[in-house]
Amino acid sequence: MTTSKVNVLICGGGNAAHVATGLAASRESLRTSVLTLYSDEAECWANSLKTNDFTTLIFNPDGSKTAIKSKPELVTKEPADCVPTADIIIFTMPAFAHETYLTSIEPYIKENTTIVGLPGQPGFEFQCFYILKSKAKQCTVMSFETLPWACRISEFGKSVDLLGIKQTLSASFLKQQSRPNYNPLEILQTIMGEKPVLRLADNYLELSLFFAMVHPALMYGKWKDWDGEPVQEKPLFYQGVDDVQVRYVDGISSEMVQTARTIMAKRPHVDLSGCIHIFDWFKKYYSHTIADNSSLLSCMRSNSAYDGLTHPMKVVEGGRFVPDFHYRYLCEDIPFGLAVTKGLAEIAGYDTPITDEVMLWCQEKIGKEYLVGHQLQGKDLADTRAPQRFGFHTLDDLEALM
Ligand code: NAI
Repeated sequence: MTTSKVNVLICGGGNAAHVATGLAASRESLRTSVLTLYSDEAECWANSLKTNDFTTLIFNPDGSKTAIKSKPELVTKEPADCVPTADIIIFTMPAFAHETYLTSIEPYIKENTTIVGLPGQPGFEFQCFYILKSKAKQCTVMSFETLPWACRISEFGKSVDLLGIKQTLSASFLKQQSRPNYNPLEILQTIMGEKPVLRLADNYLELSLFFAMVHPALMYGKWKDWDGEPVQEKPLFYQGVDDVQVRYVDGISSEMVQTARTIMAKRPHVDLSGCIHIFDWFKKYYSHTIADNSSLLSCMRSNSAYDGLTHPMKVVEGGRFVPDFHYRYLCEDIPFGLAVTKGLAEIAGYDTPITDEVMLWCQEKIGKEYLVGHQLQGKDLADTRAPQRFGFHTLDDLEALM
């Protein structure tokens, strides 16, 4: 019996898109193409493939390396050339680029296509439904909590280093009226291989009510009282965490859990029990790399997966350092993170004083206004993925997607 191949379209041209392409193109059961809209990436990548194999170099935990050679069938910047035939479209790029890609693929999307955010980041589903309109109802929309890999391009369009692979990974899943003739999760597992083991979240809101708060909370705790004097060394981001910082991580995480509980109390059939506190999450998912899990503080300080990571810093005169507030820890994690969580809390009717305190400081650092006082009604709200920005204002609106 012959089964037809599933057409996978990787969107993006960065580190993650290179790994996703290298792995997908090596699977016999898939036909893989790449769409990159950015600059001259498509041309460069396609030219490189004319004379080179594409290599994904996997760094194994035992110190050995495995090279996978493969070739996508097409690398293009033209959505018309690749979207109509795609069964699964994987967005693997920074969240700020999602809007451009969604807008460009919308005219060509067919029924039963699966759109995957890898990672999706909070608010991915709202943006998909807003831009794809009625077409989104005919599609499956999946959003992964984070990227499964630590990876870096070694040579653009030619080779990528896959430095680390997560053990498990969760995805949300909105099927609506879509009836694909393949199992989207199985295809994603085929692409990724044995690890990470993929799991479906019970509800699409679960992932939005969880991530993207650690960076802003730690940045705020560290720099809120900074006197502006450059420092001699880049401070360690996780291993240097102190009690003040951890109070904000704990506080925001507790507010997210309470937001989930408030929604469940009002809508008992909505299962958000998977929305857990960050301390429980560390114990559950990082047990193998955490040396001391007795407290949230010790989980962050003793997690070897975070060894050596420093605060984002800029060098100033004399070789000293100042914090880089325009790094993605604030520029992405506020509009595509905390603003979404805050929006969900507003819809649930749950007050979030700690989230607000952190957001107000962060938005000032990046020169934006999302919150005014305790309300999401700032002039830059349209730059965020808060549900309100896409017309989701009530629990009924949120449930309409389920
Ligand atoms: P990246 O920094 O390699 O992405 C750069 C790519 O984004 C560019 O090559 C281009 O294709 C696209 N791009 C940039 N500006 C654009 C624009 N204005 N319009 C359209 N496209 C544009 O990102 P990477 O490393 O692939 O990461 C993807 C996501 O995964 C990010 O959200 C990142 O935070 C997350 N992540 C990455 C990890 C890694 O090890 N690379 C680890 C964990 C998470």
